[in-house]
Parts: sequence; C-alpha cells; structure tokens
Amino acid sequence: MTKGIILAGGSGTRLYPMTAVLSKHLQPIYDKPMIYYPLATLMLVGIRRILLISTPRDLPHFQQLLGDGSQWGIELSYALQPEPRGIPEAFLYGRDFIGSEQVCLILGDNLFYGKLDFLREALRTNAGGTIFGYPVQDPQRYGVIELAPDGSVVSIEEKPAHPRSPYAIPGLYVYSADVVDIAATLRPSARGELEIVDIHRAYLAQGRLQVRLLGRGIAWLDTGTPEALVEASIFIHAIEKRQGMKIACLEEIALHQGYITLEEFYRAVERLPASPYKSYCLRVGAEYEQLAGAAG
Ligand code: DAU
Repeated sequence: MTKGIILAGGSGTRLYPMTAVLSKHLQPIYDKPMIYYPLATLMLVGIRRILLISTPRDLPHFQQLLGDGSQWGIELSYALQPEPRGIPEAFLYGRDFIGSEQVCLILGDNLFYGKLDFLREALRTNAGGTIFGYPVQDPQRYGVIELAPDGSVVSIEEKPAHPRSPYAIPGLYVYSADVVDIAATLRPSARGELEIVDIHRAYLAQGRLQVRLLGRGIAWLDTGTPEALVEASIFIHAIEKRQGMKIACLEEIALHQGYITLEEFYRAVERLPASPYKSYCLRVGAEYEQLAGAAG
C-alpha cells in the first residue's frame, strides 16, 4: 500500500503579508483551504495513510483543521520540519512513516484537476521513481525535464534561466521506499537547500526513473503568486458553479471511495457548523441514498 506525504511547510514569503501569520496552504482556493486539494488528490487514488509535514508555527493549525483523518476514513499523522531546508527533507522527517513502502509525495501548494488515472497507473507501475512532465509557458519557474524523441531523459534542471523544454515537473512524485536512503546522501545546493531534482537524477543514474507526460486533460494549477491564487480560485469556482458539485469535498470523496459508511458520513457532517459546505454534504448524502435505493 502506497503511503502519502503532503509537504506544507516553507516560508511562503512570496505571498507576504498573507503568510505573515498563516500558512500559504491554509489560504482559500475559492471555498476551501488550499490543503484540501492535495489531500483530495491522494484520497482519490486510494492513499489512506498520510503524513503532513509543516512548520512549528503552522502544524497545530493543520492538526486543528484536519484532525486524525478518521472522519474521512484515513489515517493522518504529522511531522515537523523545523527549517525549510528543501523538499527532500520530507523523506528524512518521514523515514519511519515510510518504512518499507512506496511513497507518493505531493507539495501542499499543488492543485490537480481531472481524471487521475495517470497517477493510479504510476502507483501501479513505479519501479523506482516516477515523475511527470506538464507543458507550461513559464518553465523557468519550475523543475524542467528535457526528453529525447525516444522518450529518454536528456536533462533535469531546477529553475533553469534558459529552459530546454516546456515541460515543468509538477510537485507530485512517486518513489520506492529507498528514497529515504537517497535523500540521506544529498548535499545542499548553492542556494542552501536539498533539491528534489537531485532525487530524480539519482533514480535516473540508477536507470530507475520513469517520466510520464501529462496533457490537456489534466489541469495542474499553480498557487505561487497572488495572481495564481486568484486564477486557481476562479477555475474552481467556474467548475463548481457550472456543475453544482464541489471539487475536493473530503466528506464526499470519503463516502464515494468507500472509506466511510453512509452512517459515518452523516456523523461527520452533523458536526460541521451550519454553512453552504454542510448543506452541500447533506445533499450529497441524500443523493447517495437515492442511488443506493435505486441500485438495491
Ligand atoms: O510546484 C512544482 C515545483 O515545486 C517543482 O517543479 C520544483 O522542482 C520544486 O523545486 C518546487 O519548486 P517551488 O519553487 O515551487 O518550491 P517552493 O520552495 O516554493 O516549495 C514548494 C512547496 O513545498 C511549498 O508548498 C512549500 C513546501 N516546502 C518547500 C521547501 C523548500 C516545504 O514545506 N519545505 C521546504 O523546505
């Protein structure tokens, strides 16, 4: 069973003053805190044991918001990253949690929308490291992967000034359990951080890196700037308004994934304060009952 890690620390300085007292990952993306979206992504692909890593200041907020996950039929645990010294630290602080199992790391500020079969398949077929490539207009802001026509990897660079391809590497990675050993060998880069691209390079050097390119069927949204935050909110709002359905409603996902029974669902929803979110959940429950009635 794959384990999940959500990395939601960092300094968030690019969003100052919004992040002066509150984690970037707790800021709203339309009608939910940002962290709901990466959590939903993991839950939707069947990952139920999840470690959330954040800063000493912010970790209590996540614990207050998400609890132990039992309301959604998942197991949430928490770890501190005292200083933001790089994404691969997730594997140092997550070592005991990972144990001998494959792990899927998602950065807490990465939003995915669309059919997640690409990730389900990666979880099934990963034999070392699996990363994704997503075409963007501003690859210099991300890790960038360059592929040869035969699909083999030519280069992997972090925020290159002159990107050699349009393929950014999203903050969603699948690694074998020995990623913790690879992470332990890394040394800080010139900017003083452990670099996630060095993990990709290590798997590549061992001939164990798979790359999957994503296309238009998946939206990968950025939340790194105030403008990107607004755009992500507008995107989620547009779909939710059109369909009358919510994206990343964790109670709904838990029910549909079979992580909780209808009874447990109603117990969780009862505890929510009166809100449009609660009304939505009640509607989801009623529709589920109707469907179950029709099927039975
Ligand atoms: O979003 C995808 C990109 O994420 C990748 O393409 C890059 O290869 C990867 O380095 C990363 O780039 P960013 O510039 O977005 O990294 P940033 O420092 O903003 O951190 C990304 C997330 O990880 C953010 O939610 C904060 C969290 N983080 C980051 C670091 C360095 C931590 O929790 N601890 C850390 O030490």
